[in-house]
Amino acid sequence: MDPLLELGLKHGAVVVEDAAQAIGAEYKWRRCGAIGAMGCFSFYPGMNLGAYGDAGIVTTNDPELAELLAKLRLHGGHNKYYHELVGINSRIDTLQAAVLKVKLGHLDGWTQRRQENAVRYVKLFSALDLPIQLPVIAPYQTRHVFNQFTIQCERRDELKAYLASCGVGSEIYYPLPLHLQACFADLGYEAGDLPVSERVAQRALSLPVYPELSEEDQNYVVSVVARFYKESK
Ligand SMILES: Cc1ncc(COP(=O)(O)O)c(C=O)c1O
Repeated sequence: MDPLLELGLKHGAVVVEDAAQAIGAEYKWRRCGAIGAMGCFSFYPGMNLGAYGDAGIVTTNDPELAELLAKLRLHGGHNKYYHELVGINSRIDTLQAAVLKVKLGHLDGWTQRRQENAVRYVKLFSALDLPIQLPVIAPYQTRHVFNQFTIQCERRDELKAYLASCGVGSEIYYPLPLHLQACFADLGYEAGDLPVSERVAQRALSLPVYPELSEEDQNYVVSVVARFYKESK
């Protein structure tokens, strides 16, 4: 975040954090979503704090921005049928809010289980000699929440298919970087312009890390990855 904040200052740009996968995460002991001017969180069911349908929240420490956001989500005004701004309808559904209120109390416990699972993966994979790159778990001033446990690997798509054939779900976050998305074609970027993003998009694979994942499950996932590379050597 520091380089991004510096870039923002340099160019007079407001930094908005996409903290959708980072609820409870900390950078230099600051909570994600409270570092930039605003933080956006998704409560999509797959998130660490997931609703039973779509929901989300925007956080800010700036009272003026808070006021503006509160208006924008309610068709641009606080008073029903009086619109100070052109806003949107972005109210959180009451039933989703009720689910989230209950689940919020479990978040720290679930996060701890995710962290334990991540550490166990690192131990298990580190003991093997596989063509995969593990995520770096920064040891200082940092709290990882592991919405994903993402490895980078050789022959990613084949490995994903092999995992699926062995009953292990995995996912690619994300297969196509933003600069190559059709919706941004008018910006004029081409393949090769952002080589790091493109390389990661071809190599990233997220393995199951959810809180309920057992040690036995993890041993199985690791053994399937190891078998894939051993059999196809
Ligand atoms: C990093 C990140 N940002 C934004 C989103 C979008 O969230 P939503 O679909 O709730 O708008 C996601 C969803 O997976 C995400 O992972």
